[in-house]
Order: sequence, then C-alpha cells, then structure tokens
Amino acid sequence: MTLHPPRVPGHPILGNLTSYRKNPLTFGRHVAARYGDVVDLRVFNRRIFFLAHPEFVHQVLVRDADKFHKSPVYRIFLGRALGEGLLTSDGDFWRRQRKLAQPAFHHGRIQSYAQTMVDYADATASRWEGLETLLINKEMAQLTLEVVCRTLFSTDIRAQADRIGFALAELLEAITEATSGAVFLPEWLPTRLNRRIRRGVAELDSVIMPLIQERRRSGEDTGDLLSILMLAQDEDGHGMSDKQVRDEAVTIVLAGHETTANALTWAWVLLAQHPEAEAKLHAELDAVLGGELPTLAHLRDLSYTDLIIKETLRLYPPIPEFARQALQDVQLGEYVLPKGTIVLVPVFAMHHDPRWFGEPDAFRPERFAKDAGEALPKLAYLPFGGGPRVCIGNSFAQMEAVLLLATLAQRYRLSVEPGQTITPEATLTLRPKDDLTVRLHAR
Ligand code: HEM
Repeated sequence: MTLHPPRVPGHPILGNLTSYRKNPLTFGRHVAARYGDVVDLRVFNRRIFFLAHPEFVHQVLVRDADKFHKSPVYRIFLGRALGEGLLTSDGDFWRRQRKLAQPAFHHGRIQSYAQTMVDYADATASRWEGLETLLINKEMAQLTLEVVCRTLFSTDIRAQADRIGFALAELLEAITEATSGAVFLPEWLPTRLNRRIRRGVAELDSVIMPLIQERRRSGEDTGDLLSILMLAQDEDGHGMSDKQVRDEAVTIVLAGHETTANALTWAWVLLAQHPEAEAKLHAELDAVLGGELPTLAHLRDLSYTDLIIKETLRLYPPIPEFARQALQDVQLGEYVLPKGTIVLVPVFAMHHDPRWFGEPDAFRPERFAKDAGEALPKLAYLPFGGGPRVCIGNSFAQMEAVLLLATLAQRYRLSVEPGQTITPEATLTLRPKDDLTVRLHAR
C-alpha cells in the first residue's frame, strides 16, 4: 500500500496557491508546524512536496542529488535573464560549467578579494560623511554590486552602477511578477511584463557584452573570473562562446550581489533593534581593529561579527526557499515521491524550527558560537543550500558580509527612522518590502 503525505486543504482549482502567495513565509511555518515534515501541496493540479526535515532535505540535495534537477520555474523565468548560467542549467552541461568557474572561487583566490571589498566599503563610508539619512537597502545593493564587478570582472562599474543596478532591479521585479502570475504567458507575447524583461536584459547586456568583447580583443589574462571563463577549454579544446560567458557573468552578478545586499540590510536592522548586540559588535571592532581598516588577517578575530552574519542569515535567509524536480520515483522515508514532483525546500521555515533553534524568533548570534553546544543536524541550517549545487559564492559571501559590516560599523551606527513598517517580502529573495530609511550616527 502506498502511503500519502498529509495534504493541506485548499481551493478546488487553485489548490494552495492563494494562501501560499499571501505570505509564503508564514504559510511555510504554519504548514511545517501543523502538518509535519513531508507535506503534499497543490498548485492547480501540480503536486509539490514540502520537505521540512533536514534528513529528507539532505537526501534530496546530497545523497540522491543526481535524481533531481532544478525546478522548471528556474529555467522558465530566471532563464529569460540568465540564459544557461550556473543557477539555471542542469546535468552534464551544468557540471562542466561549474568545474570551469570553480577556480575563481577557490579559497586562495577569494582571500585575494578581501582588500578590494574593504576598499569599496571604505569609499562608501567616506561618501556617507555629512549625510544624515540614507536608504540602506539601496546603499548595500550598490556596494555589493561594485564589489562583485571589481573582484570578478576587474571592472570599476561605479560609472555604470546606476544602469546595471536599475536593470537588475527591473528584471528581478518583472521576473518575480511573472513567476507569481497564475497564468503562464509565453515569452513572445508583447505583454507589459515581457517588454519589461526584454528591456532589462538589453540594458544589462549593453554593459556586460562590451566587457566581454574588450577582453576577447585584448586576450589579456587578468586572472579574474572573466578571464577564467574566457580562457577555459574542455578536453576537446573547446572554449565558451561569448553568449555562454555572458550567461555566467550575468548569473554571478545577479546571484552575487542581491543576496549579500539583503543579508547586510537585515543585519543593520537587527543591530538597530538589539543595542546589546550592537555594543558587543562595537567592542569587538574597537579591540580587534583599533581604528585601522580590517584586513584578511583580522578575520579570525572578528568572531562576533561573523556570528552576527550567521544569525542574520538564519533569521532572514536571502533565498527563503528553493526547489527541485524529481527525475524518477524516489523513496522518501515511508512515502514515494513520484517522478516529476516538485520538491520545495522551505529554508525560512526550517530556520525557525524550534526543534533545532531554541527561541527561533530571537536574535541570538551566540547560538552559533563553537562552544554554544547547540548541535545542529546536517542541513537544518542551509542559507547557502547544500550538496553539489551549494552556492558557489558561499565563502566569498560570508567573508564579504563580515568585511563590509566591520568596515562600516567601525565608523557608523545606524538607527531606523521612526514611522516605517519593516515588512519582509519573500519573492525570489527575501528583502524589506519598501525602501528603508536609516539615520547615520558617526561613532
Ligand atoms: C549571503 C549571500 C548568498 C546567499 C544566501 C546565497 C544563497 C544561494 C543558494 C541557497 C543557492 C542554491 C540554490 C539552489 O540550490 O537551488 C545559491 C547558488 C548560487 N549562488 Fe549564491 N548566495 C549568496 C551569495 C552568492 C555570491 C556572492 C555569489 C557569486 C559571487 C553567488 C553565486 C551563486 C551561484 C552561481 C549559484 C548557482 C550554483 C550552482 O548551481 O552551481 N552567490 N546561492
């Protein structure tokens, strides 16, 4: 006899779509708490298995990783902007691309990016001088965009930052809107959304393609990601086309700046709301840095700063959920996951599971300290995903977030301007729904 996981009651046609869309974050937590670790959701007549137990998530992402592909939603929607980049491709093609891009993210190389990260954060701190208030989400987006472009493409995009930033924001918004649409409209239809996505892509390409063409012309090997991608060849001596380099470049710019920017924005919010944690951070920065800019050598001693980032990524995981599709029937505990089923990994709900995180809503950076004694099951905490498709920028992002926060918090304290409601909005990423104004206080 085949066992079926519990089903969440929903609309006869729409299934659970409406309640999910109203607030994916609370919906996920509610489903996990009320229905358990494996739950059957429906969107129209499509089955979605919601997996909220680390053991099952480990099976899907690690043990049986080759029995799953990315969810088609990635390919259909993100693919319109990112083409066949690392985030959206699958199978042998993905494996080859991942191998080619990996050297740019090796430990030693990432360490060499530290100085650039601090330089840009320091320039931002200087630009803030004399300002009273600013939009922190915008500032963090600009800063992380500058960092990713400089470190991986050796390009100072400050001149074009507005154009790229605008195009990326437009694209994300349009793709998010398209993803949440009840009806899937083909790409060739001249709808408002389709036009908006096309405009965003064209704008982005008008900045990225000349960078690629220029590098192709000069043949220069600067050792950055762009060179690595452009000079890479497979066993048959084939390199990547300009289009493929473009897809990887755009993927990394998008995946690598929006996520880290959101993490930092939430870290500022949490620090403003928790003065005792903020005071501890300042004490660490003063003791370790003594007024100097942070360097790679300081990282080891910035342990509380690191805990703040880890706890921020738990409370506000920049990718609040992600999905896979089963390529074959898979036995999952007592259930069979039928071929073609979508599997939803609810990162946000899992990060708030009281079985693994005591007082799950509390901001307690110390819980991640080595001596805290909270032994977590594997993948109970997964801001960067897991298994072969774990975030390629994982160490890059963790180091970047610590260095940028340390550099800026050394000089400024931020408070949230009163009268604003801070609502987390889960779309493809988790960010504050509205722009967030903060007041700057020089330290
Ligand atoms: C705090 C910051 C970040 C978070 C929370 C984050 C999170 C994630 C997650 C959860 C995935 C896996 C999605 C899945 O399995 O479906 C992923 C993949 C990816 N991330 Fe990140 N990321 C961050 C920063 C970065 C940075 C800085 C870069 C590049 C510079 C980057 C590039 C990528 C790429 C290329 C992939 C696809 C990898 C593959 O499938 O081979 N990310 N990220």
